[in-house]
Amino acid sequence: MIKGRNPLNGEVVISGAKNAVVAIIPAAIIANGVCIIDNLPAIEDVRCLQDTLIKLGAVCELIDEGTLMVDSSNLNNWNATFDSVRRIRASYYLMGALLARFKEAKVALPGGCNFGTRPIDLHLKAFRALGAVIDEDYDNGVISLKADRLVGTNIFLDTVSVGATINTMLAATLAEGVTTIENAAKEPHIVDTANFLNMMGAKIKGAGTDVIRITGVESLHGAEYMIIPDQIEAGTYMIAAAVCGGHVSVRNIIPKHMDSLSAKLKEMGCKVIEGDDYIDVISDGNLSATRVKTMAYPGFPTDLQPQMVAGLSKADGISILTETVWENRFQYIEQLRKFGCDITIDGRVATIHGVSQLHGAEVMATDLRAGAAMVIAGLSANGITKIGNVRFIDRGYEKIEYKLKALGADIKRVKE
Ligand code: UD1
Repeated sequence: MIKGRNPLNGEVVISGAKNAVVAIIPAAIIANGVCIIDNLPAIEDVRCLQDTLIKLGAVCELIDEGTLMVDSSNLNNWNATFDSVRRIRASYYLMGALLARFKEAKVALPGGCNFGTRPIDLHLKAFRALGAVIDEDYDNGVISLKADRLVGTNIFLDTVSVGATINTMLAATLAEGVTTIENAAKEPHIVDTANFLNMMGAKIKGAGTDVIRITGVESLHGAEYMIIPDQIEAGTYMIAAAVCGGHVSVRNIIPKHMDSLSAKLKEMGCKVIEGDDYIDVISDGNLSATRVKTMAYPGFPTDLQPQMVAGLSKADGISILTETVWENRFQYIEQLRKFGCDITIDGRVATIHGVSQLHGAEVMATDLRAGAAMVIAGLSANGITKIGNVRFIDRGYEKIEYKLKALGADIKRVKE
């Protein structure tokens, strides 16, 4: 429940990156030893993966708030077809990790947010190129992979894919010889996963560029690692500050990761001040319209698209937002219209006519980032907003209502 129109002021500390941790926890399976993962975000996707690793036979427990210990020395099961696997999209990383460790894996098809077809053909193509034989059983929703040997090779990804890049890195860490991934994705969580694997003894070079080289090693050992801050959580608070007005200091971040958003917010009329590990957003709430196109990193992230659309709904003038990554990521617009947002969709293009006022609404979060967009709309709207299905938001935002409340928002979680 949100009572809108409060300005936001103060500091918000950003948690560890969801899209990094969901790759790093499965990566810990490959190590023969104990991994300590710090800056762990307290989000549903992490709890789901923890549950999954325990079921596979690993010891996986919180040893402190924000610190997870994974001991996979006795992990002896490569069959991950249970329910917790189906609940999140990133469970596809179990394929690469189990394949690396056991040369065999049986993994339930991933779930997660539904914004159009989310194929994994590139992941499977890369595994096949490394030597895996794959059975795709779509009737039962299970993928089985098996290899006598995994042998390094050249892999060109037809589309820039975060998941396929990371999954190929995972599978190739223990392969014989050198694997080269061309047209690799460059997102910060790819660099983070590569850094973690290297701390465990892998030999990966080039992560963060579009060519990654992995020289296979015999085995990986345990390591202690600190997850990078969440680029998308940070961006969500930056957009919220811009729309609601006020002065918000977004702390514990890597400002470079926010370049595409910072540039847009400046264009829209906000003051954006960058420090070493923080960004201050200062806004009077009067924003101007702009054009945005989502792209792979370092472009504007598709995972900030819904939040940006909510923000642009109150900007003066007509904004155009083009979604180039996902074919069907505007399903939530229907919900935003309930706030009085004036948005038309034509294929992958949203035209947003800025309105001076939004009004509170009763809406349903349709997926994780769309849920965040509704929070932003509610914060900037007159009156009361009620958002249902907040479990989607909990998949990726740690303590969102506490963090916003500390900034001055009138928001609370109610049980019905
Ligand atoms: C990851 C993020 C997700 C984000 C997306 C794009 C995680 C856990 N999720 O998802 O939040 O929205 O990156 O930044 O990190 N594609 C194929 N074949 C494949 C794989 C992808 O055609 O095998 C296409 C997709 O349809 C999409 C594009 O490639 O159009 C990008 O997808 P990808 O980067 O793979 O997204 P995910 O890894 O699923």
